[in-house]
Amino acid sequence: MNALIKKGSSFKSSIVLPLDKSIAQRAAILNIETNDGIVGGDVISTRQASKNAIANGEENLYLGNSGTGIRLLTGYLSGLGRKFNLSGDMSLSKRPMDRIADPLNELGAKVSLNNGKPPIKILPSKLKKEFSYRLPIPSAQLKSSLLLAALNGKTKIEIIEPELSRDHTEKMLKHLECDIKIEYKDSLRRIYLNGEVPIKEKRVFIPGDFSAASFFIALTLLSENSRLLIPEVGINPSRIAFFDVLKEMNADISVENIKEKNNEAYADILVNSSKLRGRVIAKEIVPNLIDEIPILSMLAVFAEGSTFFEGLSELKVKESDRLKAIRSLLTEINAKFEANLDDLTIKGSGNNYSFSNAKFNSFNDHRIAMCGAILSSRSIDDIQINNVDSIETSFPNFFENLSSLGFTIDLS
Ligand code: S3P
Repeated sequence: MNALIKKGSSFKSSIVLPLDKSIAQRAAILNIETNDGIVGGDVISTRQASKNAIANGEENLYLGNSGTGIRLLTGYLSGLGRKFNLSGDMSLSKRPMDRIADPLNELGAKVSLNNGKPPIKILPSKLKKEFSYRLPIPSAQLKSSLLLAALNGKTKIEIIEPELSRDHTEKMLKHLECDIKIEYKDSLRRIYLNGEVPIKEKRVFIPGDFSAASFFIALTLLSENSRLLIPEVGINPSRIAFFDVLKEMNADISVENIKEKNNEAYADILVNSSKLRGRVIAKEIVPNLIDEIPILSMLAVFAEGSTFFEGLSELKVKESDRLKAIRSLLTEINAKFEANLDDLTIKGSGNNYSFSNAKFNSFNDHRIAMCGAILSSRSIDDIQINNVDSIETSFPNFFENLSSLGFTIDLS
């Protein structure tokens, strides 16, 4: 399905977000009851795969497009002492899985891959009683895969994290009364989980998805005379570097009504049209805005001055090679930029910049397709995006929200 989008005029409105994808995936794997809400295809496939494995005793599991689903579920199932086979769609079949298979095998699992990629085979095995592991990359999926393996394998695990990645798994396990402790020693974060203590079945509240919100935050910043209220968005500190960066870029954005449930903070986000300034995005904060880099790099085009991003290598192994996809979007809107290995410099064209005749390639990646749609707010004419179906994996009501703000969307 392709999209033709025409921008509307200014808006003062609010939108409805899907539930936080990261938290919902974890709840799906642990089979924990949650509040109702909109969820995308990734959460649906993880829920189904987890149910098929645990409740229906099935061996062959399909995870669709979901990297989080396949990596976390592989960990969770590898401690069960059963045989499984996990596969996914074309994009998932190209993503590296050795980052989880290697440490899971060190922990005592029997996980094998096809040239480092899915399908993933798990054979019955018994996990070690104790295990310590230092993360070589700041990946929440890797750390969560190991924590969930330890839970089913009844392992006492220590995970050493040089840089903080999203900590939803730790927060959820604490809420579910597992024996989990976090310590900071020698500027390293250390997670201790005693897998012998099982989870207590308690309800989990899932707020709105901050990463989904980021697209409409960007849209409002770029639109003239506009204001948007986004209710009940998750503002876990390990997820909101995008918010902090935007404030430093002079964005008129604030949070109100901060609340907390099951250790996860959430709030209403209020955003107004703004004139942005460029800034440096240091590699230390990249893990905390990893999914927001594509939309942030689009915003940088409409800022005064340059924005410099460093250490973007992880973007190459997401649902698409997002560094390549970002370069393609930037080229299509005639932005001034320089890409050098894993770094990217965008020379802002200023707040009045607009473009015309854009035809975006989505690379079958939901976040790239949504970037294209948001850019329509600065296009003189209609924009086109090919293959927007992937948006459904994380934000099924994305076009509904966009249309409620006055945009015209033609899907064919
Ligand atoms: C996620 C972790 C991140 C992120 C992904 C969701 C999670 O991936 O990009 O969208 O829910 O744990 P990495 O762990 O590969 O950085």
